[in-house]
Amino acid sequence: MSLPVAQPRLPPRIALTRYLDEIDRSRHYSNYGPLSVRFEARLARHFEVIPDRVVAAANGTLALTAALMIAAPAPGALCLVPAWTFVATAHAVRLAGLVPYLVDVDPALGALTPEIAAAALATAPGPVAAVVPVLPFGQPLVETAADLAAWDDFADRHRLAVVIDAAAGFDAVRPRRAPVMVSLHATKVLGIGEGGVVIGPDLGFSEEMRRRLNFGFYQIRAAMVPALNAKLSEYHAAVGHAALDEWPQVRRAFQLVALNYRRALTDVEGVALPEGYGDRWVTSTTILRLDRPVADALARALAAVAIDTRPWWGSGVHRQPAFADCPRTPLPVTDRLAASTLGLPCFPDLAAGAVVRVARAIARALESGADGNLDMSSRRGLSQSPCPSTIA
Ligand SMILES: Cc1ncc(COP(=O)(O)O)c(C=O)c1O
Repeated sequence: MSLPVAQPRLPPRIALTRYLDEIDRSRHYSNYGPLSVRFEARLARHFEVIPDRVVAAANGTLALTAALMIAAPAPGALCLVPAWTFVATAHAVRLAGLVPYLVDVDPALGALTPEIAAAALATAPGPVAAVVPVLPFGQPLVETAADLAAWDDFADRHRLAVVIDAAAGFDAVRPRRAPVMVSLHATKVLGIGEGGVVIGPDLGFSEEMRRRLNFGFYQIRAAMVPALNAKLSEYHAAVGHAALDEWPQVRRAFQLVALNYRRALTDVEGVALPEGYGDRWVTSTTILRLDRPVADALARALAAVAIDTRPWWGSGVHRQPAFADCPRTPLPVTDRLAASTLGLPCFPDLAAGAVVRVARAIARALESGADGNLDMSSRRGLSQSPCPSTIA
């Protein structure tokens, strides 16, 4: 049997019992019930904000959609999206009525910066209403607080909405003013099955979120605005409470996996792990950066020794058929990152011995690549027919 790339482990049934009993008693199953409201208050403590700013939702994609509907009510306008992200970011932009305008990222951060966004504004093929910076794989942008502040400045200077996609950033992100979305999907460090949360700027934004997640209703039963149904159910909130109860242990387990990888890969040349991963922050994916565009070849070499890997963000959003028609700037950094980034096995009970096995297999594959055996001819993203930029 192969070593899987992910094997989520949510709280066991026994840890849910007291919360499920509460549901039986309250007979609230959804519609911002008592467990959901208390879950939001606990999330607020985690993110170090007041509870008024936190709204939980059915999943991260729809939470991001609702936040964009509020922040940028401009149907048909462009929204800057890094091409180096998961497709959900671009789907949310479309669902909110905006057109994804795909832009490149900083090579070191793997993320959009205010400078790159400002340059893209100058060549935008139409009016721009919003920007969605993405924290790559949950990694903070150097120093999270400072960099999120830079996005607030950007929003003020350009009079644009900024909504941050920090889907994997549960442990890393500390929100400032711009709304931040964090996913609570089973594959994330704080997984509840399906779920997401938006930390907005104030109570007014949160009330508007509740309306957009509930058919456009808030306090009165009238559809006041375009809306979704994407509320968090009480059952998912029950899992959320149990997940928060065990968060300190889960965090330590993910941290140990990260530190084991760091140690095991120390002497392997040509590879790097994200800055601070395991030391200052954790996430549920171990992302290997290679100094050569050999991610596909390495994935094949590891598959041959029964180690699963995943190119979590594929070849970039611009290579996905659903977004092939989106306007975009040239995307050389995204192409390079797609060809040189690989997700390694990562789950909370991944044994130290398994990590050593993965590291040795990587070292062997890269060494044989130096002799010409690591086939670089089918580099992901670069092997496909080139997609012309629609923006010169
Ligand atoms: C960058 C990014 N944005 C958005 C999402 C969507 O979150 P969800 O799966 O909760 O809808 C994900 C999911 O992994 C993601 O990685």
